[in-house]
Amino acid sequence: MKRTKIKDIFFNPVIDSEYTVCGWVKTRRSSKKVSFVEINDGSGPQNLQVVVDNALVEAETLKKITTGTAVRISGMVVKSVGIEQPIEMQARRIEILGEADAETYPLQKKAHSYEFLREIAHLRFRTGIFGSIFRIRSAIAFAIHKFFQERGFFYLHTPIITGADCEGAGAMFQVTTLPLNTVPMQNGKPDFGQDFFGKPTHLTVSGQLNAELAAMGLSEVYTFGPTFRAENSNTSRHLAEFWMIEPEMAFYELEENIQLAEDLLKYLLQYALQNCREDLEYLQKHVEDNDDLIETIQKVAEADFIRLEYTEAIEILKNSGVNFEFPVAWGCDLQSEHERYLVEKHFAKPVIVINYPKEIKAFYMRLNEDGKTVRAMDILFPGIGEIIGGSQREERYDKLLRRIHELGLPEAEYWWYLDTRKFGSVPHSGFGLGFERLLLFITGMSNIRDVIPFPRTPGNAEF
Ligand code: 4AD
Ligand code: MG
Repeated sequence: MKRTKIKDIFFNPVIDSEYTVCGWVKTRRSSKKVSFVEINDGSGPQNLQVVVDNALVEAETLKKITTGTAVRISGMVVKSVGIEQPIEMQARRIEILGEADAETYPLQKKAHSYEFLREIAHLRFRTGIFGSIFRIRSAIAFAIHKFFQERGFFYLHTPIITGADCEGAGAMFQVTTLPLNTVPMQNGKPDFGQDFFGKPTHLTVSGQLNAELAAMGLSEVYTFGPTFRAENSNTSRHLAEFWMIEPEMAFYELEENIQLAEDLLKYLLQYALQNCREDLEYLQKHVEDNDDLIETIQKVAEADFIRLEYTEAIEILKNSGVNFEFPVAWGCDLQSEHERYLVEKHFAKPVIVINYPKEIKAFYMRLNEDGKTVRAMDILFPGIGEIIGGSQREERYDKLLRRIHELGLPEAEYWWYLDTRKFGSVPHSGFGLGFERLLLFITGMSNIRDVIPFPRTPGNAEF
């Protein structure tokens, strides 16, 4: 008999008819005559309770049906007599697909710490919490494409291996096939002429520069792919490999860029509320300190985001009376403690900070008339801090070139980028949304390592 997913049975059960389900055993409780086996197949947060007449299976087989065992069960779906679930299954036939030794299976019924579950990331998909998280991750990835495709944006694939440094931060992973123990040298430096690409390359920190090229022909594009940062940040908000969504739009100035970013975030939050309800409810109930998850998402989805000049933000922080670890002065970068003060204490709403000093932002941002600030925008979220970073781009050839020189960037490496400012240059803008930071907000989890299947952080590349 064809397998039915447990979610579909709950969604539309035909009572008193026979189904076949497959899944992994969560628990078994046995009395003398009957056993109750709860199984889950990952299709949703609900477990199906299966009532097994102990006479149906050999005693030896019954004993093997322990937590983690994979089974295929056929039986009648009936209204449950218990109040915990609306329906249950009366088993007619049970087949063990894969045993899980009760002594050594690491995922027992008890609650495990997230740290421990990260060490067994290959098995954590089977827990209720991680099942919900990764179903939500999938749904939101789909919603991102839906949002942009509905608006006529084109999905652009940008290279993962690149010779360009987009953010100019220098935190990049080198890509090389040179033999590390006998690197060919020239004038005291590695001879990258002999390397695979004939020049130094690394994993991309952002698809933006390539997206800008495409926007100068396709008008509105977006990327959605993995990006890499070799910064040694061991925080609950940083990954060495994370996924970023980067729209880039010709003919957009900063304000239109901000509006798109706000629309995108609100759309994704509404999408989660409407399409991931059961999983959100599960996380609200089972993750500690998460009681107001759905309410928090709703509030932000309906809030007017605050727009705030960087200079004003600095004033607010200075007048806050708070003794910050990082002192506040015009020109300093906003640290997470500053961001969280603005969002959580001062405004109690998402905040969009604009017009940052040029010194603390990347070379490609458009210089303002004051000559000191650039048309940057960062969106700060409660509990997260920076979730989006973006800007209007410098489309004026001379100004861009001057900035490249000021920062000592290798002009020759950017010839193709500069070309777009020579030929048919137009005002344009874009931003980057950190996918995992968004998922932190939507799931209410507190560590970014728990919203990506296999986190890469300093010292960790297992699985
Ligand atoms: O602010 P960032 O560095 O901006 C860029 O990369 C631009 N090229 C984006 C653009 O304008 N197209 O990164 C954008 C976002 C951040 O706001 C944050 O949400 C996320 O990416 N992010 C990280 N997420 C997880 N781990 C890290 N190490 C991250 N670094 C940035
Ligand atoms: Mg940033």
